[in-house]
Amino acid sequence: MEGMEERAPANLSRFSGYAGNADVAPVPLTMVAAEEERRVTSGLEELDRVLGGGLVAGSAILLGGDPGIGKSTLLLQALAALNGRLSTLYITGEESIQQVSLRARRLQLRCEGVQILAETSLERMLEVVTTHRPEVLVIDSIQTVFSGLLQSAPGSVAQVRECAAQWVRYAKQTATTIFLVGHVTKEGALAGPRVLEHMVDTVLYFEGDPDSRYRVIRAFKNRFGTVNELGVFAMTETGLREVRNPSAIFLSRYDENMPGSVVMVMREGSRPLLVEVQALVDDSQLAAPRRVVVGMENNRLAMLLAILHRHGGVAMTQRDVFVNLVGGLRLTETAGDLAVLSAVFSSYRDRPIPREWVVFGELGLTGEVRPVQNGEERLKEAAKHGFKRAIVPHKNAPKSSSIKDLEIVPVKTLKQALEEL
Ligand code: TYD
Ligand code: MG
Repeated sequence: MEGMEERAPANLSRFSGYAGNADVAPVPLTMVAAEEERRVTSGLEELDRVLGGGLVAGSAILLGGDPGIGKSTLLLQALAALNGRLSTLYITGEESIQQVSLRARRLQLRCEGVQILAETSLERMLEVVTTHRPEVLVIDSIQTVFSGLLQSAPGSVAQVRECAAQWVRYAKQTATTIFLVGHVTKEGALAGPRVLEHMVDTVLYFEGDPDSRYRVIRAFKNRFGTVNELGVFAMTETGLREVRNPSAIFLSRYDENMPGSVVMVMREGSRPLLVEVQALVDDSQLAAPRRVVVGMENNRLAMLLAILHRHGGVAMTQRDVFVNLVGGLRLTETAGDLAVLSAVFSSYRDRPIPREWVVFGELGLTGEVRPVQNGEERLKEAAKHGFKRAIVPHKNAPKSSSIKDLEIVPVKTLKQALEEL
């Protein structure tokens, strides 16, 4: 397995001398019984969705996210939802068992089947789990776990990595499903969940705007499913509530038209989502004006601004440009290109785009507006939510059928799109 290379020196001694070892032998691949992975639904549909259809026995899942985003709440709710179907153990290294129990009570969870342990020593945890053999295990958080066999301090990269490696091995050997909670540290990657991504089977990130009650869980890597699924929750006084039909929650609710804001239809996994893109263009005092993005790639914005200059005739030199995707979402598809430039253009001109318009489309370096996948489905979603006008790639305009109450404006080039705006 990847990530185990550091353990090689200890293991190598077994193989020294190249003497041959009867216990270890390859088998023909065709002789291996093809076992389907065993899956159990967690009881939280939105979590199952990002896991690829439920919990897989023997898999290690990393759940990363900012402190306070709701990781502990989510996993406690998941264990409670598994109540009675699988044996579960929640190991907390951050909170006391009283705190966890208080939360469970406040959330009115049925936790009769959930075992809890407050512990930070890896060796003692392993002792407990080998005796109790839970089928689903939560370690909250991996940053608090330390092995007495290592010199380095708890929370250091070496500790976090070694302890996680032990848990991954334990998961495989015992067919246990293990959730490792990892806080994303402000300083970025170091000692955070990033160093563990390659070791585990599945990496989930729990994200959200601090100002919004909505939380999004996404798979960043998944050996047992696709990575573009999103699970959506709302944080309420009584814990996380699943949001089954999330398509319109990422629109901010201003009643007025504001310059610099445009709605696009994004597709995440199997669902279309209406998302607001905001941009602010401001005079810059800096020699190298700022390009700040939240929720998209910096390079993509740089490229789009170059296209805007070259093919739209609008230059952003001596302007700072800020772009934000509302709701803590991330733009992972190029279908947002046209919406981003529309928002930038709207802010630059200080002219609002009417609230009942949607925009989507990919931009090519030659200034052409390219079609995106599932165009018709996106348009239907927009119509469903009362949008009246859609500026879309020419090739995405429905050929025969029309969409009720939605005026389609097909565009071939950026220039054409800007004229429509
Ligand atoms: P928590 O699960 O402790 O976050 P993490 O484990 O990711 O650090 O969630 C903490 C936040 O969630 C805290 O700010 C309070 C809020 N919260 C609610 O709003 N409602 C609830 O029912 C619970 C349990 C938490
Ligand atoms: Mg927590």
